[in-house]
Amino acid sequence: MKTVKGVAFVKSKSVQEGKNGPALFMDLVFKGTQPNLPLQEVPARLWEGVDRVATTIQTGELLYAEGQEIVFNGETQLRLTRISPLKATPEEILAFIPKSTVPVTEGMDKLKEYLESLEDPSLKEFGLMMLADPEIMDRFPSAPAAKKNHHAFVGGLLEHTLEILEMGSRIAPVLGLNRDLLLLGLFLHDIGKCWEISSTPGFSYTDEGRLVGHMYLGCEKVAQVSRRVAGFPERYLRVLQHFILSHHGEFAYGSPILPATPEAMAVHFLDNLSGQVNAIRRVRPQDGDQWGYEKNRGAYIWKKGSDPSSWDQTPVGRGERKVFGA
Ligand SMILES: [Fe+2]
Ligand SMILES: [Fe+2]
Repeated sequence: MKTVKGVAFVKSKSVQEGKNGPALFMDLVFKGTQPNLPLQEVPARLWEGVDRVATTIQTGELLYAEGQEIVFNGETQLRLTRISPLKATPEEILAFIPKSTVPVTEGMDKLKEYLESLEDPSLKEFGLMMLADPEIMDRFPSAPAAKKNHHAFVGGLLEHTLEILEMGSRIAPVLGLNRDLLLLGLFLHDIGKCWEISSTPGFSYTDEGRLVGHMYLGCEKVAQVSRRVAGFPERYLRVLQHFILSHHGEFAYGSPILPATPEAMAVHFLDNLSGQVNAIRRVRPQDGDQWGYEKNRGAYIWKKGSDPSSWDQTPVGRGERKVFGA
């Protein structure tokens, strides 16, 4: 058991009734112990004295925390023994907010390049008009792609969108897909996240996000902007909305409609590929530096998997074999 002491950012907080009274459940973000080490997000629990401190701790602020790192259900957690709120300036808080490594101006320029490369004049005009929409200009560059699971950082939506646009523009000729439709579908699929999740510290769901969700919000914006393109065909609007409504791929994952075109199927899989790979990357190692646990899928992740030079030469399964009585 490792003892942890330090300053952390409160990403989320909830008080839940347990068998022995209320418990405080939080997601905390710690800064690395050395400069340039990445931010570390960890679920933390306080089981005692919750009534006394729960109201003094606020989401989006900093606290001082002491506790022990434990592994529970395969996941690393912090069992807190002491917490107290800290007063911090906005600049001090910003140092705890995870951010994309993609520079905003370059990223937005790259996005514009993809949209300028569309061949169909109506789709191209529509795409560029979406990008120039004041609300999208204001929100898209800093929006996270998710609250928690993947690309959950400032600029995450832009990074995630650029990843899938790059993959999409490469696979379109391989699979014989309509490149214009595919790229627009990829650009639009999560655009509703601009309104669904707040990009301010904590990445909380907005009221409209909770009430109607990012698919509806995206469809609404697409309809709104399409009316600004003179003579934009109604059929185009529905095909673009189809990308948004079907991109989760299955009813069980929140899509009200299943992908009905090859391009929509490709949007679903490229979105999923980018999200899943990012989710695996962000898993923290907990067993030495070798393995981490991804709670969502209940899967162990081998952290050394991408680096053959770090693999030792012990044959798999032989290293620690113990024979009864030996
Ligand atoms: Fe989505
Ligand atoms: Fe997505």
